[in-house]
Amino acid sequence: MEIADATIDLAKSYCDAVDAVACEGKWLSVSKGFSLSDSLAFMRYCARSNAVQLFLKDGHTVAGWCDIVPYGFKGGRLGIGLRKEYRNQGYGGRLLDAALDKAAGRYRKIVLFVRATNTGATALYEKRGFKVKKVFKEYAYEGLPEQVLMMVKKVKKKD
Ligand SMILES: CC(C)(COP(=O)(O)OP(=O)(O)OC[C@H]1O[C@@H](n2cnc3c(N)ncnc32)[C@H](O)[C@@H]1OP(=O)(O)O)[C@@H](O)C(=O)NCCC(=O)NCCS
Repeated sequence: MEIADATIDLAKSYCDAVDAVACEGKWLSVSKGFSLSDSLAFMRYCARSNAVQLFLKDGHTVAGWCDIVPYGFKGGRLGIGLRKEYRNQGYGGRLLDAALDKAAGRYRKIVLFVRATNTGATALYEKRGFKVKKVFKEYAYEGLPEQVLMMVKKVKKKD
């Protein structure tokens, strides 16, 4: 297993990974993934905007992703996901740590949105110093009201 910057040759596997996690219907804000051309456009946007975009790789398979894209004034918005079979083995924590490390110097704070029912992810974020800033009580995912937490972490400058 390897954590590395995203590369275009793995776009299809990345696209499939996002779709697999989205289709579980429990974790992301969408219940299906994006087309390959939309995924490629997003990757190009990440590169253009000096965003953080990392892949957790199992050979040529994208097992997980973590991106931090520009959000508001000097902020970054974080997204992360691992295919089901790679979870709960420490990889998500390592991927998040690598992304936060890269974010230092690029962003002053990191913002993320997580469903309140996603207690595993919320626990991980809290362990990494994220704090709940706001609770959206009636956020609609696929038309259904859900509690969504906005969590924020300040980023230390790199020496
Ligand atoms: C959230 C996710 C990225 C975490 O990755 P993971 O590989 O499963 O998590 P890890 O095994 O690395 O565990 C991460 C940490 O969270 C802790 N943790 C995980 N689940 C926990 C739980 N239910 N309660 C308390 N702590 C928990 C672990 O102890 C670990 O702590 P450590 O790094 O200090 O040892 C992964 O589970 C995932 O992709 N879930 C589906 C998609 C998703 O929810 N994305 C986030 C949307 S906001």
